[in-house]
Amino acid sequence: MDWLKTYHEDHKAVLVLLAKFEGNILDLKAGLTTPNIFSEFEEFGDVITNVVIPHFKKEETGVYKQIAELNPEGKEFIQKMLEEHKALFSLFNLYVHAVEIKDTEKLIEIGNRFEQVLRHHIVQEEDEVPKFLRQ
Ligand SMILES: [Fe+2]
Ligand SMILES: [Fe+2]
Repeated sequence: MDWLKTYHEDHKAVLVLLAKFEGNILDLKAGLTTPNIFSEFEEFGDVITNVVIPHFKKEETGVYKQIAELNPEGKEFIQKMLEEHKALFSLFNLYVHAVEIKDTEKLIEIGNRFEQVLRHHIVQEEDEVPKFLRQ
């Protein structure tokens, strides 16, 4: 299925990006900042806005709906995934604000949480979604 391929490709691309982001947060923590580190944080935000948020929307109106409707056992899983989308959306808003005002401490705290929740979310989807679709 074509959309499933895009779905997987998006996940892979975001995981690569998250590894780089994690490195930038670690640099910030260690005080190893370069003058362009904040523009990299802005670029990361742009990818979230232009790729990850539309990806969430596509899941919510597509594959999530499909699983919840066709598979009673999948309903609980989808509920959890929807809650994570909401949590990620809130964290992302806090992230954008922290980048805007260049609040290093907040950026480290929020950035770490956002990175962990998003990585966990993607791994869960990669592990669980194909199982529900196969049934
Ligand atoms: Fe998702
Ligand atoms: Fe996803």
